[in-house]
Amino acid sequence: MIKACIFDLDGVIVDTARYHFLAWKRLAAELGIPFTEADNERLKGVSRLRSMEILLELGHITMARDEQERLANKKNGWFVEYVERMTPAEIFPGVPALLQDLRRRGQLIGLASSSKNAPRVIELLGLAQAFDAIVDGTMIVHTKPDPEIFLLAARTLNVAPHQCVVFEDAEAGVESALAAGMACIGIGSKEQLPLADRVLPATGAFDPAMLATLDVRQPRATP
Ligand code: BG6
Ligand code: MG
Repeated sequence: MIKACIFDLDGVIVDTARYHFLAWKRLAAELGIPFTEADNERLKGVSRLRSMEILLELGHITMARDEQERLANKKNGWFVEYVERMTPAEIFPGVPALLQDLRRRGQLIGLASSSKNAPRVIELLGLAQAFDAIVDGTMIVHTKPDPEIFLLAARTLNVAPHQCVVFEDAEAGVESALAAGMACIGIGSKEQLPLADRVLPATGAFDPAMLATLDVRQPRATP
């Protein structure tokens, strides 16, 4: 039986995935690297520095680590500028109602985001009270696709991994959830997220009645 719903943030709760894309695209333009939305799929869910490495791979550029860090921080500055202008009106349609409905049904609700900006985004959206546990990029060593972040969220919620379902828009995030032994609802298209158990076009399209129909994974030994 599913006892906890764990949500990714960027691209699942709010369209900050768009702001990440715009900020990386701006940096790519400065570096003369062609960068499309399809390229951006590889950056979703992974850490800031891993995203920087992928961008440089796309441009066939090698660069010293401290310069990579400087440029990744520059991208983050732009991202933060976009985010600071955000209002709760930008939460995806149906998401606040879904979170309330899940809570009424007794589900525990977690947030697991690779982003170090996640606490600020949640604060700006006024959603802090909607979550029983928040795990962000500052609390983990290995970002998605490693399962660490979702396992930490489950531990914080005091539930076993096989009792959790994850909502994810990133391929790396789906891999992370499955590696953690959790069910996974992909948000996007089946082409982008072929490994997810179900794929929905938007988070607000999730019907909590689906919780009873999800294939629960076999319990695994707790790591
Ligand atoms: C993830 C995003 O949520 O957070 C990635 O999908 C982003 O695109 C990652 O790179 C790290 O975010 P931040 O805000 O710490 O740079
Ligand atoms: Mg995401």
